[in-house]
Amino acid sequence: MPVRHQEKDRAVVVAGVGGWVPPNVVTNDDLCARLDTSDEWIRTRTGISTRHVISPGMATSDLAVEAARRALASAGDPEIGAVVLATTTPDRLCPATAPDVAARLGLVGVPAFDISAVCAGFLYGLATAAGLIAHGTARQVLLIGADAFTTLIDAKDRSTAVIFADGAGAVVLRAGQAGELGAVGPVVLGSDGRFADLIEVPAGGSRQRSRNGSYEPGDEFFRMAGRDTFRQAVKWMSTASRHAVEAAGWRLEDIDRFAAHQANARILKAVADELAVPAGRRLSNISRVGNTGAASIPLLLAQAAEDGGLVEGHRILLTAFGGGLSWGAATLTWPRLPAA
Ligand code: UT7
Repeated sequence: MPVRHQEKDRAVVVAGVGGWVPPNVVTNDDLCARLDTSDEWIRTRTGISTRHVISPGMATSDLAVEAARRALASAGDPEIGAVVLATTTPDRLCPATAPDVAARLGLVGVPAFDISAVCAGFLYGLATAAGLIAHGTARQVLLIGADAFTTLIDAKDRSTAVIFADGAGAVVLRAGQAGELGAVGPVVLGSDGRFADLIEVPAGGSRQRSRNGSYEPGDEFFRMAGRDTFRQAVKWMSTASRHAVEAAGWRLEDIDRFAAHQANARILKAVADELAVPAGRRLSNISRVGNTGAASIPLLLAQAAEDGGLVEGHRILLTAFGGGLSWGAATLTWPRLPAA
């Protein structure tokens, strides 16, 4: 497990947070009307009751812009030097979606690019943003996780259609000191491409295009081998979490709030139990928003900050897992936000 050593005392600091979900709510009963499933199965096997879904014509950039505006306002509208967008559902295959998002936020001219690490994208973005700040490319970075996952899902596939949903979350990051409120600890990341087939969209990439461009019906949709993914998710989120806590010089008992990628309530319970994080310290919004991919962690932080689940000084453990396979974890002390 690679651990990045930070220069002593320097850290990237969270200066603002925001989240947004589209207004259209889909309940389990709505899904039962068109799928062979039940409210009871979905709630007990995934922990999800409702999720938010984009309206026809909307795209990931629309979600990203809304979340970004809220994060920028919460940070007191600082000058942004780079925009990083983690997503699996870019508006188009090419170009990246981040430059469009940046332009719509009035940030023409700043570096802007997408990160592709599926549900671990926000933590990969966190490490990338920290690097941009450490190397002087930007003083402040806007990091967004946004996914319109329902555009990738086969509406007839009950094993994915009940889980994945749409949303966005964003943070503003700035240079700071390791001891201050808002400081992010070393970001631990990992991958295992031997299991790339567990989570995939088979069509649309260079392998399929170089053959003859045609593909089997259904290959354009997201597929997941649920049970195997479940096992890998528990293993790697637990392992990465231990490494991140150790790299930060914390102990597991120090964790005030556990903020994991909201993949499945049973996965979250298994990881938190494995790490012995008490039930009252586990943040969760999966029952309301489902699995929102790269948006999951920043959306959870934004909603928890809003409803009082997170307060200044809380020591938070973040962890995520997704296709690739890719995973990550990091620690964070919750900041005092200018516009909170
Ligand atoms: O976000 C990043 C990565 N994603 C994850 O980490 C998600 C990982 N996986 C999961 O969350 C779970 O594996 C699922 C929610 C996808 C599935 O739950 P499970 O408890 O692992 O179920 P299963 O795949 O083992 O299937 C159990 C049964 C099967 O029926 P049989 O073969 O036992 O007759 C499925 O066909 O449940 C059936 N099933 C359903 N039944 C009703 C699968 N989906 C549904 C459904 N409604 N929506």
